[in-house]
Amino acid sequence: MKHILFIVGSFRKESFNRKLAKVVEEMLKDRYHITYLDFKDLPYMNQDLEINSQRTTDNGQQLISVERVRQEIINANGIWVFTPEYNRSYPGLLKNLFDWLSRPMDVSNFANPTAAQGKKITVSGAGGKNKTASCREKLNELLKYIKMNVMTEPQVGIELGMEAWVKGEFHLTEEQLSQIKEQADKFAEFIL
Ligand SMILES: Cc1cc2nc3c(=O)[nH]c(=O)nc-3n(C[C@H](O)[C@H](O)[C@H](O)COP(=O)(O)O)c2cc1C
Repeated sequence: MKHILFIVGSFRKESFNRKLAKVVEEMLKDRYHITYLDFKDLPYMNQDLEINSQRTTDNGQQLISVERVRQEIINANGIWVFTPEYNRSYPGLLKNLFDWLSRPMDVSNFANPTAAQGKKITVSGAGGKNKTASCREKLNELLKYIKMNVMTEPQVGIELGMEAWVKGEFHLTEEQLSQIKEQADKFAEFIL
């Protein structure tokens, strides 16, 4: 069974993007092994941490986290990001994650492979009226820059309804469900 790794760009407990990911998980779970990337303990990018000779017991735990996250990316056949839009861009926690993934795993030579390069990835998002369009445009640009293989068409952006903002409830319309299903089917073909 192929493995799709979900990345949710919000750590909020009641995140609508996590709820959107759960909907997609339901659609795919009989055909794919779905897991969620846990990257809450990833340190902020700091080049001191990259250099082997600077490994100490103080930063050991942080480095274990970097290595685990990279390994989860490498093991996945496909990656699907579900992200909110923050100030017409993507959240900083995703920038930090992809900055780590963009670096060679062995920094002794910058031609060495990164965990991100060539990995197949797509993006969806739930947010306000802009349907996360600016966020996805900028995130797609970053993902291509770090040599990921990005499926940009189709990518679904969900405009959250009033019941989400007022009552915290997350519902998708029939049309949104069929758009998400189309992205799921196209992504399944993309990672064949
Ligand atoms: C710092 C910040 C900036 C935001 N900027 C935007 C924005 O530019 N466009 C938008 O549609 N929503 C924006 N929002 C609202 C988010 O879309 C909304 O909080 C959404 O529910 C977050 O996703 P989550 O439920 O998965 O955490 C912003 C929220 C925050 C916290």
